[in-house]
Amino acid sequence: ASLAGVVEYRNVTFAYPGAESPVLSNISFTARPGQTIAIIGSTGAGKTSLLSLLPRLYDPVEGQVLLDGVPVDQLDRAEITKRVALVPQRPYLFSGTIAHNLRFGRTEATDQELWNALRVAQGDSFVREKTNGLDSRIAQGGTNVSGGQRQRLCIARALVTKPRVYLFDDSFSALDVATDARLRAALKDTTTDATVIIVAQRISTITGADQILVLDNGRIVDRGTHEELLETSPTYQEIVES
Ligand code: CTP
Ligand code: MG
Repeated sequence: ASLAGVVEYRNVTFAYPGAESPVLSNISFTARPGQTIAIIGSTGAGKTSLLSLLPRLYDPVEGQVLLDGVPVDQLDRAEITKRVALVPQRPYLFSGTIAHNLRFGRTEATDQELWNALRVAQGDSFVREKTNGLDSRIAQGGTNVSGGQRQRLCIARALVTKPRVYLFDDSFSALDVATDARLRAALKDTTTDATVIIVAQRISTITGADQILVLDNGRIVDRGTHEELLETSPTYQEIVES
């Protein structure tokens, strides 16, 4: 079977450079094309750190992260960037037009492709309402758009690159529940062959995930579907009730 799009963490332990204790311990899981894997856990549990190891923002101190069956430290960084899109927890927009921000200097995507990505990300209507559409200016840091609009532009940017793997770090938190649901439904329709890993705060964002990893203090303490975890995981129940 092809390993294209398969993400595997194998006994991964990670500490930030210079730190004494690890923030991730013995993390193992596999995410396959067509699947959505969700990661949930309290603040500081290690969710962002976990995602950062796939695009090699950092490397593990022990264990391996594999993409397409190949350890990521054996892959070209440019190749990883092509295959993996990370939507960071703090979405980054720079001074330039909306089109510049969506292409990010990386793609030759047509305007039509940008609109398609915006439609999936539920960002097309606010861009259409702007006088200059795709050519509207974004201020440095995206200070002239709302937090939710920033998130949607960064999600659209990820879609434009058509990656095999999407990493969403809390990318839906600034959206109202209805927009969040519409966006994820549209996402599911257009990314049927992609591998999707979602970090979320809100339970409703992840109830449909194929597998949920419950992260606590750098460890996966439980895993399963929403229904399974409701039955088996006290940590998950606590999160649901909070
Ligand atoms: N940390 C660190 N150095 C960094 C980033 C994070 O030492 N450059 C530490 C944090 O202080 C925390 C742990 O690593 O103790 C995990 O951080 P993170 O992965 O960012 O946690 P999240 O689960 O993503 O937390 P949140 O929900 O608040 O985003
Ligand atoms: Mg985080």
